[in-house]
Amino acid sequence: MAKPRNKSFVVLISGSGSNLQAIIDAVARHQINASISGVISNRADAFGLERARQAGITDIVIDHTQYSTRQDFDQALSETINKLGPDLIVLAGFMRILSNEFIDQFKEKLLNIHPSLLPRYKGLHTHRRVLEAGDSMHGASVHFVNNELDSGPVVIQAEVAVKDNDTESTLTQRVHQLEHIIYPMAIQWFIDGRLKMNNNQLFLDNKLITHPARWISNTLQLPEETA
Ligand code: GRF
Repeated sequence: MAKPRNKSFVVLISGSGSNLQAIIDAVARHQINASISGVISNRADAFGLERARQAGITDIVIDHTQYSTRQDFDQALSETINKLGPDLIVLAGFMRILSNEFIDQFKEKLLNIHPSLLPRYKGLHTHRRVLEAGDSMHGASVHFVNNELDSGPVVIQAEVAVKDNDTESTLTQRVHQLEHIIYPMAIQWFIDGRLKMNNNQLFLDNKLITHPARWISNTLQLPEETA
């Protein structure tokens, strides 16, 4: 029998929400033993909202264009999140930079997925930049959010080889497929209490880890213990 779901999390999106879909599916098959208490988008036209509705999850729009400052928007966002009372906040293609006040409020409870092997290629257009640089490897990273953009401790990375004939679109597609595997995995670890961030340091199963877990060729490599 499935365990009761005592924990909940919210997912913040801005677009298609394919990661959201992978997370919804992982919840449905009890890979993630928690419920999604809400999906919040800063854009009313985000397709991810439809995915939430299809799954019977509360969908909320907080349109950033209706707020004159980032602080005001973040304030509305944090009030909405607090009402939902989640254990974790999952950023899945949420295209807004969050203020330090917001991040401090939800410190150590914010996960993000970024389409590169961090610390390489922070910011936007990562697939294009990887191709332009002629890199042979690319991938995606799940990380905790801290006050510096795309710089919090990395939990898990998935690697993919760049092919000679890759275009931005083929590479994006392959990285996306891997994102859909590693993000539910990291969320599951957090929900199960296995994964924690403390003072900007990462702990998995109560052990300090200094290197991310890796997902390579369909195999999980857990980080070596460092303490
Ligand atoms: C993903 O590539 C993710 O890494 C980045 O935004 C994209 C979101 O895609 N943060 P989707 O909306 O989940 O399809």
